[in-house]
Amino acid sequence: MNVLVVGGGAREHALVRALAADTAVDRVVCAPGNAGIAREAAARVAPVDVSDPRALLALAAAEGADLTVVGPELPLAQGVADLFGEAGRLLFGPTRAAAALESSKAFAKAFMARHDIPTARFEVCTDERQALDAVAGDRFGFPVVVKADGLAAGKGVTVAPDQAVAEAAVREAMVVRRFGEAGATVVIEECLDGPEVSFFAVSDGRRCLALPAAQDHKRIFDGDAGPNTGGMGAFGPSPLFDAELEARVMREIVAPTLDGLRAEGREYRGVLYVGLMLTADGPRVIEFNVRFGDPEAQVILPMVERGLARVLLGAARGELGDARWRVAADPHVGVVMASGGYPGTYETGRPIGGLDDAAAVPGVYVAHAGTALEGGRIVTSGGRVLTVVARGASYPQAIARAYDAVGRISFDGSHVRTDIGQKALLATEVRGGA
Ligand code: AMP
Ligand code: GLY
Repeated sequence: MNVLVVGGGAREHALVRALAADTAVDRVVCAPGNAGIAREAAARVAPVDVSDPRALLALAAAEGADLTVVGPELPLAQGVADLFGEAGRLLFGPTRAAAALESSKAFAKAFMARHDIPTARFEVCTDERQALDAVAGDRFGFPVVVKADGLAAGKGVTVAPDQAVAEAAVREAMVVRRFGEAGATVVIEECLDGPEVSFFAVSDGRRCLALPAAQDHKRIFDGDAGPNTGGMGAFGPSPLFDAELEARVMREIVAPTLDGLRAEGREYRGVLYVGLMLTADGPRVIEFNVRFGDPEAQVILPMVERGLARVLLGAARGELGDARWRVAADPHVGVVMASGGYPGTYETGRPIGGLDDAAAVPGVYVAHAGTALEGGRIVTSGGRVLTVVARGASYPQAIARAYDAVGRISFDGSHVRTDIGQKALLATEVRGGA
């Protein structure tokens, strides 16, 4: 089968690699891709913008794509799945109506309330007065969480320690309109406590197949300090997520979500990303996303040894049938190398050295995100530049390999966290000692 992958980050690089390695796949093209994807022997890139659904459809037709796999949320929120559906082309990813689970937090929260899906207590606020009232007093206590309703590139959430910060967050979203229309409505919710886990289930609308859970590192500095980023690293499988917890999440969250969406005429075909907080009272949904996580995909997709393309095709078709994958849940650690200054301002165009040397470390591959080809050299072109991923027989080995490879790559001003995967070691010790 011929596959078109939509997107140009490290997640899409991981998708391209995994699909190109699948014996069911003949050709892979990626739009727009990046310098690393272009270097993959088994793939090509095409300069088509992810936010232009008609151009993507034309590309899929020209390439004879039997399946289109969408990486980022934006095209899904724009309705690329609906457009492909009307044209009779298979696309892996939910329709615009089902993608509301990510593109509108107000929709997602009300949906969870309608279907008794465990999540933080909340109020949807459509004007400033209502939002300021909601963050006042002991309604939710402090800290309180203020979320812009719409897509805000991962920047729309404030965990406010006190009322003044919460009020400022409300004004930023609703009055200053820092996130544009995405902040016209806000969700105010109670702050939950516990470790966060990312869980992924691929669904054909009715049934689903789960992947091993992963853990992300959202803050820029070691020890989860500093501002939020798009993700500075990930590891999986999560030692916090055992078979019993998976069964509970399936029963209490994933099944009612898929059933509820279908009952509301928003059948979900694609990968459902459940951002969970493991609280003392059980798993709670922090957020839904309608795509693979980044950087989680970089560590999870290499675990799928066989069957990925057929499972994604079955989901896109609305009938998984007997499609199955084979997953080897070995420890994987992915360390993001970022440009100095990220998530604030940073410089680009810095030559990157040592990529081949890094890839020579056993069990390692380097997924590109913000890279470009300039005069025959690979240079930085974004905030998050690379995800260096290592597989190991154990977490200590995966961590050692990942940082060995990171140490071989150089570009001016590069920034990495040095503690990616440490939480896996801690969790293993705690469980081992229990
Ligand atoms: P989101 O964009 O919804 O993923 O939120 C970004 C981050 O904010 C999450 O990964 C959590 O760390 C934090 N967060 C969101 N909602 C809550 C909540 N109700 N309680 C505690 N932390 C939260
Ligand atoms: N890892 C967070 C996200 O993909 O949204």
